[in-house]
Amino acid sequence: MLTLLSATLLCAFAFYFTTRQSGVKGLPEVQGWPFVGNLLQLRRARSFSNKLQSWSRKYGPNLLVKLGRRPVVVCNTFDGICDFWIKNQTSLISRPELHTFHKVVCSSEAFTIGTSPWDQSCKARRKAAATALNTNAVRSYVPAISREINDALREILTDSRRGVNAMAPKMYMKKFVLNVSLTCSFGTRISTVRDELLKEIVDVEEALTRYRSHTNNLQDYLPFLRWLPSASSDAKAYSERRDAYMNRLIGQIKSDIKEGTDAPCSVGQVMKDPAFSFNDVEMMSLSITLLSAGLDTIPANLVQAIAVLCSKQGRMIQQDLHSEIMAHYPTLEQAWHGVVSEEIVPGLASFVQEVLRFFSVVPMGFPRTNVEPVQLGDIRIPQNTWFYMNSRSGNFDPAAYSQPEEFQYRRFAENKVPQTGPPMRHFGYGAGTRACVGFHLANRLMYGFMGRLILGWEMQAQSEVDIDPETYNTCPSSLVAEPKDFLCSFRLRQEAADEVQTLVQ
Ligand code: HEM
Repeated sequence: MLTLLSATLLCAFAFYFTTRQSGVKGLPEVQGWPFVGNLLQLRRARSFSNKLQSWSRKYGPNLLVKLGRRPVVVCNTFDGICDFWIKNQTSLISRPELHTFHKVVCSSEAFTIGTSPWDQSCKARRKAAATALNTNAVRSYVPAISREINDALREILTDSRRGVNAMAPKMYMKKFVLNVSLTCSFGTRISTVRDELLKEIVDVEEALTRYRSHTNNLQDYLPFLRWLPSASSDAKAYSERRDAYMNRLIGQIKSDIKEGTDAPCSVGQVMKDPAFSFNDVEMMSLSITLLSAGLDTIPANLVQAIAVLCSKQGRMIQQDLHSEIMAHYPTLEQAWHGVVSEEIVPGLASFVQEVLRFFSVVPMGFPRTNVEPVQLGDIRIPQNTWFYMNSRSGNFDPAAYSQPEEFQYRRFAENKVPQTGPPMRHFGYGAGTRACVGFHLANRLMYGFMGRLILGWEMQAQSEVDIDPETYNTCPSSLVAEPKDFLCSFRLRQEAADEVQTLVQ
């Protein structure tokens, strides 16, 4: 009798904690299971984004799913995303707090800007980041970006013994992006791909990005699981390792400022600016954001950009882009400097945007929540509902892009893209009020790096390259894609070999 009573009480308790009326009106709801909602169906699929896209074909472009007890609005088409993320951008301005990430992983309470709910502090941190990353700031970083691109290319040249040995590009891309962040934001840098700090930061940041998974953390949606022992000790260990290198970087700037020996850098500038007066937690949040925001996303795009150039159609793209860049500049030397100081070659700019669209390295965006109710025709969504942008699905919407499953590197140059929507005409950087503030810097780094690579080298794969947007990602449950690494031969262009070796110094 007692057992029966306990079992009934437990079920009632679990039911109470796992069901919840959404209050959403006018959206189709995907059939799910008691307690877990649609969670297991989505976890069983290889890709969360694909499964939602296939449901959208059956139920309609915008859906309501239940993840445990949590109702979530998911938008899967270009227009659907624009309706919510752009037309209702003042409502969808906040981010939800997730149990695993906000309460377990970020024990120090220093959330990155991209994971912070909207409040006065978030607004001020976002403003500081936007100032450090706007077009003027990016222009001032050009000498540093140029140095770091050359440094990465020089290391590839040396380590490959001038193209004799094939090499895996991933760590070189990570080092390049980390060094740009360290130089521009912290006034320091690391020297080689074998640096221990590089390995530590890459290892920790990749792991922390995986904890931001939309599907992996069952306890985010099934609160009763929070009472069970979980992987939280691993998460805490990563968080402590991050605190250690962040405290070292911030501590160094503080002591340099005190001694008057600080190098010009954006974190130092914010520390000295009385307009911001951030406390230690806010300073940590801004610093983590500036260090980590591009560290997974930019290398994932660069690795896939190189993979495309090594693919069957890639040889032709390399030749076309090389000729187009050279047609814009009278000499190789001017082209070498031009591809970093300006973005005037339409084919190269378009190639970068097509990589962002095609590989959609943040396939499910960063979650949002609305600070006021949303009314869209017959659809009514109460305040504090969660929203997921299926950006990969929006980027492959046939109503917005012709033959979306084809990689067409001139698509953006030929304006075969929607004439409305986010500024870059794809959802790679999100959309609306909380869209990516680092996109000017990211565009410049990818344009400059790929520009110089194409000017000086011919690339050929030594092992299989995967440029299939469905399979290239080895960790589809992570927030950011992790492309397969592959072996690539970087051979100096014969006609320019001597000059490139001088320019890269
Ligand atoms: C290819 C590189 C990058 C990609 C694909 C990317 C993608 C994204 C996406 C999808 C979002 C969420 C937007 C939304 O909710 O609508 C975002 C937010 C953000 N990104 Fe990026 N990003 C990149 C590089 C960078 C860089 C280099 C920085 C800065 C150093 C940066 C800083 C931020 C910040 C601060 C946010 C949060 C904005 C907010 O919540 O208000 N990103 N990014």
